[in-house]
Amino acid sequence: MIACSRCGASNPEDARFCVGCGSRLGSVCSACGAELTGPVRYCPSCGANVAQVSADEQRKVVSVLFADLVGHTSRSDGADPEDVRDVLREYYRAVKATIERFGGVVEKFIGDAVMAVFGSPVARGDDAERAVRAALAIPGIIEQLNETSPHPDLEIHLAVNTGEAVVTIEPGSPDGDLLVAGDVVNTASRLQGAAPPGRVLIGEETFRATRRVIRSEPVPAVAAKGKREPIPAWMAIEALVPLSVRPAEMTFVGRERESDLVRDTWSRAVAERRPHLVTILGEAGIGKTRLAEELSFDVKATGGQAFHVRELPYEQSSGYETFVQLVHEVAGIFGSDPNPVATAKLEASLDHLGLVDPALVQLLSVFARTPEAVADDRRSLFEAARRYVEALASRTGTLIVFEDVHWAHPSTLDLITSLAGRARDAPILFLALARPELLDLRPAWGGGLSSSTTMRLEPLPPAAAHWLAAGLVGEGRPELAERIELAASGNPLFIEEMAAWMLERDGTDDELPTTVRAMIAARLDALPREERDVLFDASVVGKVFWAGPLASLRPDEADLDEILGSLERRDLIRLERASAVEGDDEYTFRHILIRDVAYATIPRRARRERHEAVARYVEEAAPDAAAVAAILAYHWREAGDPERAVTYLLIAAERAEQAWAYPEAVALYEDALGLIPKDDDRRRSIGLRRSVAGIRHEHTVMDEEQLKRLAADGSS
Ligand SMILES: Nc1ncnc2c1ncn2[C@@H]1O[C@H](COP(=O)(O)OP(=O)(O)O)[C@@H](O)[C@H]1O
Ligand SMILES: [Mg+2]
Repeated sequence: MIACSRCGASNPEDARFCVGCGSRLGSVCSACGAELTGPVRYCPSCGANVAQVSADEQRKVVSVLFADLVGHTSRSDGADPEDVRDVLREYYRAVKATIERFGGVVEKFIGDAVMAVFGSPVARGDDAERAVRAALAIPGIIEQLNETSPHPDLEIHLAVNTGEAVVTIEPGSPDGDLLVAGDVVNTASRLQGAAPPGRVLIGEETFRATRRVIRSEPVPAVAAKGKREPIPAWMAIEALVPLSVRPAEMTFVGRERESDLVRDTWSRAVAERRPHLVTILGEAGIGKTRLAEELSFDVKATGGQAFHVRELPYEQSSGYETFVQLVHEVAGIFGSDPNPVATAKLEASLDHLGLVDPALVQLLSVFARTPEAVADDRRSLFEAARRYVEALASRTGTLIVFEDVHWAHPSTLDLITSLAGRARDAPILFLALARPELLDLRPAWGGGLSSSTTMRLEPLPPAAAHWLAAGLVGEGRPELAERIELAASGNPLFIEEMAAWMLERDGTDDELPTTVRAMIAARLDALPREERDVLFDASVVGKVFWAGPLASLRPDEADLDEILGSLERRDLIRLERASAVEGDDEYTFRHILIRDVAYATIPRRARRERHEAVARYVEEAAPDAAAVAAILAYHWREAGDPERAVTYLLIAAERAEQAWAYPEAVALYEDALGLIPKDDDRRRSIGLRRSVAGIRHEHTVMDEEQLKRLAADGSS
């Protein structure tokens, strides 16, 4: 049997696709994408050394489960050794099966102890929860063994701990040979040592990650040898909701042709070390992000790296939003990091990438938005960005996904185009996802590039749509699935929302909304009042939001946590594992349309106070208001405070100029002018600055065109 590395299902030895989730079994050559069967060292189709690529060590967040039969050795005194062996064999078999059923991998058996890992080779977002559920199921196995074996009274002690570990995956073995090391393992083992018989102790991160779905009680911290501080611990009691009630991510359906195309392009970019830009166009909810996630899953599973960055739907920006996110993500910079910390992290990260030239470091700090960052001209800034991505991809195939590019500002679009056109000798795929409006903004998008592919994502074919609908409403309700399939016109988000709607009201007959927006609006409408209000508040913050500002908006609401938990169970929002604001939970709307519809539903007057609360929160939480000036300007304007908005618009404009993002600067100055009274003295100077920024931009573009022509002449 081989276990699927994705869903954990057991498959026959010769299976190529998983019987449980349909994903491809076995590993794939990261150089050419060919399928690898068995533990090969060299790819049979291109000769790449696959052993070297995939034996890599990775730092990952995992959940470690420890189970130990305590006192078993003494109890087996005088027992028939053969009986003992039988009982033990049955114990190993049953525990391993349970762990695998919940998606874990048994790392090793140590005497009577079992150590299992959740979250590697494949992380699933709810690994901690699965690990605790598996642990909670194990005492039942022991009880059964005690009932059936001739030597009863086995006792088990269990613990789960979550944290970062160094994971080594042995080459060519999707189902195992995993080596996990790190403090998280030692701590798990200590917790297990302190667990009462038949009970599960969990560490702090595990508790945080599971507190909405598993009831746990605090217990005294566990003192441990070699640790200065005792380890905070909780005892997991029971699951609050069955695993299946939560709308699980559905199997990826249809899209064979599109998947093949992006996979092929990826393989070629990697094998030839030639950067390529793929643009996927499609309406909201059609599946662009999901397609990118599937590719990114494959990329990571084969030793490559993938980054996801997204544009924000704000009208204003100081430029290069997505690239700033990329640099932040690579360097591990958080929004709440004070400037010196951010600068130190950036320098360490650039150093690690081998980018040590001080002039280059200075230019790249523009993308980290540190205050001293100024670029001399746009060309050198873009050159610096090019060298950055080349360095990033120097060691391994690299996928960079730009989400929601239709919201990108002109400088970002220029930057992506420039990177895709100029990066050399690096295995990079730039994947831009956008609604079709992108072409209104840039009719010639991708056109001038030799290595660019644009494709449109069409509605799902009927068979795939049916599959998805049937999977969501569950077996035995074909008429429901059919109604959804007919009404949703192949838009998977529409299908999901409609299925949720039907399940929430148990399929009762209703006129079905005819657009995905109307569908979402209907769902929001039917929410309990306090949940809807919290969702409205959150929509003012954005696609990503934090609990902090929501709490400040409703100081009397004691149950904010509960409400967020309920919205999470309805799969309208998701709790993120890591937060960009230290000490505050970070959430995202499951889809940006849910955010948009919620926001559009708030009455205008009610928006104001919410925007004000958010603005105040951001001012307080961000260590450097200038770095988020464009966002603050937006919130203050919507809060009906033009004075404050103007202040931030001018700061944001200055930032944009320093970063050579002149079109953004012009737009910001114009916005400021729009908010200042007609007879205000400042109009002249702001008007002047706007004009200068406009002229500078024209010059930049002209110079670049001229250079391009010169270069073309020289080479012809
Ligand atoms: N081919 C597919 N099979 C199964 N589910 C899908 C598929 N495509 C999209 N989905 C689901 O539909 C929802 C919307 O898709 P998403 O990729 O976010 O759309 P977009 O990025 O185009 O707005 C997501 O929950 C996603 O998981
Ligand atoms: Mg998307």
